[in-house]
Amino acid sequence: MKAEFTSFFNNTHIQKKLNELERRAKATSLSARFAADKNRFDNFSIDLDGLLFDFSKNHIDADTLSTLIAGASDAGLTSLINDMFEGKKINNTEDRAVLHTALRSPPGDRPSHLSATIENAQQNMNTFSDSIRNKAWLGATGKPLTQIINIGIGGSDLGPAMAVDALSHYSDKDFEFHFVSNIDPTHIVEALAKCTPETTLLIVSSKSFSTLETLSNAKAAKNWLVSALGPDANIGKHFIGISSNIGAVTEFGIPETNILPMWDWVGGRYSLWSAIGLSLEIAIGKKGFSDFLRGGHCIDKHFRESPFENNIPVLMALISLWNSNYMDADSNAVVCYEQFLHRFVSYLQQMDMESNGKSVQRNGEPCLWKTAIPLWGGTGSDTQHSYHQLFHQGSRMVPLDFIVGANSLNPIGDQQAFLFANCLAQSKALMTGQDKNTIKQDLLNKGLSEEEAEQLSSHKEIPGNRPSNMIVYNKLTPFVLGQLVALYEHKVFVLSVLWNINAFDQWGVELGKELSGSIKSALLSNDTDLNTDASTLGLIARYKKQTS
Ligand code: F6P
Repeated sequence: MKAEFTSFFNNTHIQKKLNELERRAKATSLSARFAADKNRFDNFSIDLDGLLFDFSKNHIDADTLSTLIAGASDAGLTSLINDMFEGKKINNTEDRAVLHTALRSPPGDRPSHLSATIENAQQNMNTFSDSIRNKAWLGATGKPLTQIINIGIGGSDLGPAMAVDALSHYSDKDFEFHFVSNIDPTHIVEALAKCTPETTLLIVSSKSFSTLETLSNAKAAKNWLVSALGPDANIGKHFIGISSNIGAVTEFGIPETNILPMWDWVGGRYSLWSAIGLSLEIAIGKKGFSDFLRGGHCIDKHFRESPFENNIPVLMALISLWNSNYMDADSNAVVCYEQFLHRFVSYLQQMDMESNGKSVQRNGEPCLWKTAIPLWGGTGSDTQHSYHQLFHQGSRMVPLDFIVGANSLNPIGDQQAFLFANCLAQSKALMTGQDKNTIKQDLLNKGLSEEEAEQLSSHKEIPGNRPSNMIVYNKLTPFVLGQLVALYEHKVFVLSVLWNINAFDQWGVELGKELSGSIKSALLSNDTDLNTDASTLGLIARYKKQTS
C-alpha cells in the first residue's frame, strides 16, 4: 500500500514549530550563534570527497534542521527521490519520467529498459566526437571541421555553453566553439562572420526541433553554407542534429546518419548529460566527458544514500526554503569565484526558475505559500565592485551561495590566495557587519565632530547578520563541474517536493510563443485589424512606421 504523506506546508505540527523557530531565529544573531558554539563550523559543514559545503552562516540550529528534515520526511521526500531514480512518471502534467540521472549512471546501475538506448547513444556520441577531434570527419570540400557552432536555446544552449567555457582549460585548442541562441539576427551573423564555411560544423540542438529561434538560426546558417559552397555541395556533412524529433531534423536536411537522440524522459534544462553535451565532448574528449558524468553520478549516489542530515542537496534546499519562506529573503544569489564559471549562474537561472517558478500544486490546487524566488549573481571578485553593496547595506536580505576553488588552473604568485580571501571576506562581512558605535568612535578619534561622526557612522554602518553558504572544491575539473551541476539539480528537485509543485514542466513559456506568432504576422502585413489591446496596437504601429 502506498504511504500517505502530509505536504510540507499542510503539516500543521511542523509549521507551528517552524514559526516558533522563526521567531527565535530572528532574535538571535549569526555572530551570537558562533560565539555560543565553538564547533559550529564542524557541526554545520559537510565534506564530500574533497567538496566542502559550509552552511554554518545561516540562521539555523540543530532544532531548526531537525524540524525541517522531519517536514521533508513527512512530505514523502524519500519516496519521491526513489520515484525519480526509478523512472516513475513524476512529471505528471506531461506524463513523463525524469531520468537524466540515468545518463550519468554506470551501465549496471541504469534502469534496465533504458540500458541499451543510453549505451547506443553514448557510443554514437563518442564516435562523432572522436572523428571530429581526430579530424576524420571532413566537410563538403574535404577539410576537417574545426569551428563548431552550437545552435540551440534554453537547455539546448545554456548547458553546453556554460560547460565548454567552464572546462576550456581542458579543451583541444585546435577547435573553436560558438554558441548561437538569440533570434536577434546579430547573434548568428556575428558567429558566422568568425567562421569559414569549409571548416564549420553546425550542431543544431533542439529537443523538439520546433523552436522558432533555433530553426531560424539554423536556416540562416544553411543559407550561408549553400551560398559559400554552392548548391551542389554536400552540406549535410556540416550538420549534426540533436533532437527527439527525427522527422523534423531530416526534413530540415540533416541526414539521418548525422542525428543524435533526445528523449522525453530528459528535460531540456537537464539535458547537458545527453548528446546536447556533444560540443563539450568535442572540446574535452570522451574521457573528460565521462569524468563529468562521473561527477554527476557521485552526487546522485550521495543524494540517494545519505541521511538527510548529511545530504548536501537536501540541506541546500532546506536552507533555501528556510531563508525564503520563513526568514523573508526575496531573492537568492550565487557568486562563483572562478572565472571559468562565468556562465554558471545563467545556466542555474533556467534550472531553478523554469523548474520551480510555479504557483500551482501537483494536484492543480493553488499553492498557499511562496515558491521559487529570483536567482541572480555572477563572477566574484567582479561582482564585489558591482552589486555587493546591495548585499551588505540594501534593505532586502539576499542569501548567497559562494562557490570557490582552493587552487587555480592558472596560478600566478599568490593571486589565488587573494581571490579566496576576497570570497571569505565577503561571507564574513555579510555575517558580522560593522557596528555603528565602533565606526563612530573611530571617526571621533580621527577628529570629526560629534555631529559629523554621528551622521557619517549611520552611512557606514553595515548591519551584518546576513546568511551565506560556501561551496569549496579543490580545483575545477570535469568531475567537479559534474558535481556542482548535479548538486543544484537535486536542490531544485527537493524544493519542488517541499513546495509540492512539478519541477519538470514549463507551461508558462507557451503563451508568449503563441502570441508572438500573431504579432509577427501583424508586423509583416498591412492588416491593422488585430484584435488586441491598445498598447500592443500602438507598438505595432510604431514598428511599422520605423521600418517602412
Ligand atoms: O521555451 C522553453 C524551452 O522549452 C526550454 O524548456 C527548452 O530548454 C528550450 O525551450 C529549448 O527547447 P528545444 O530544445 O525543444 O528547442
